[in-house]
Amino acid sequence: SWTPEHFVDSMVETLQRTIGKEDQVILGLSGGVDSSVAALLLHKAIGTRLHGIFVNNGLLRKDEYEQVLHSYQGLGLNVRGVDASQEFYDSLAGLTDPELKRKAIGRTFIEVFDREAQKVEGARWLAQGTIYPDVIESVSVKGPAVTIKSHHNVGGLPEKMNLRIVEPLRALFKDEVREVGHTLELPEHILHRHPFPGPGLGIRILGDITPEKVDLLQRADAIFINGLKEHGLYEKVWQAGVMLLPVQSVGVMGDERTYERVVALRAVTSVDGMTADWAHLPYEFLAEISNKIINQVRGINRVVYDISSKPPATIEWE
Ligand code: XMP
Repeated sequence: SWTPEHFVDSMVETLQRTIGKEDQVILGLSGGVDSSVAALLLHKAIGTRLHGIFVNNGLLRKDEYEQVLHSYQGLGLNVRGVDASQEFYDSLAGLTDPELKRKAIGRTFIEVFDREAQKVEGARWLAQGTIYPDVIESVSVKGPAVTIKSHHNVGGLPEKMNLRIVEPLRALFKDEVREVGHTLELPEHILHRHPFPGPGLGIRILGDITPEKVDLLQRADAIFINGLKEHGLYEKVWQAGVMLLPVQSVGVMGDERTYERVVALRAVTSVDGMTADWAHLPYEFLAEISNKIINQVRGINRVVYDISSKPPATIEWE
């Protein structure tokens, strides 16, 4: 029967046999479970011949770039962090259409990744954290999974650099990936991380993206996510986040009339993200988060809670 220990042993052997004793391997890390587990497996197999590249697209959660990079380095991985935030903001300037934003983010990611990958001498392989449902998904939509997973898609790169693909998690389901990650001692905060879209906060800022809006959203989002963790609710929801809406509303602070931004909190329960119900979070909790956001984040004066299910709504607003 399948055990994570046995999987690790046999996959490490397979990787060593496939990659050989000299080739260098490149892997794009996202901070998510899949790419992190793939990295640990490859690291166990070939050590520092695995070259991880972790790109900051400027659309990650608050402090996430620093924290995740630090965790990776703590695990002994050979990972290079590349802060390309400005490049992403430049490519997004003035764009408001969700699909155009996704495309710009995807394109910039490939440019940055390609440039960084070229710096690795002797690279022969591109590793990917593809898991079984990704394989199915890309088959069932009859085409590349670009629109759904633009962040993970490094299409064009393998051909251009003449890289061969290695996908150690290709046969695994998500829960199996987690078991393997546990066996390889991936830190809990990565192992139990909620799904997070490749385009990140870029599709949670409705309308055009500016660094100021990213900062506002990061602070509101951190209050929500930390609140969920403090109240033991984080593990009870499938995914959660905050949407920055392109509207302003009237409020009152002291004797002053305010005219500021509105955010929507989104938290859902789900088994696979295909369908989802809005999470029935306690009113007291929602009240606390709303007060904190409005009191601590200047520029936001109203908080609403999204009570739509998928379908017909989607988890993200864009
Ligand atoms: P929706 O909004 O379609 O989201 O209900 C379902 C799941 O997919 C994530 N998502 C994305 N992930 N690139 C990604 O890598 C994207 O462009 C993208 N759009 C949505 C979403 O966060 C949820 O987990």
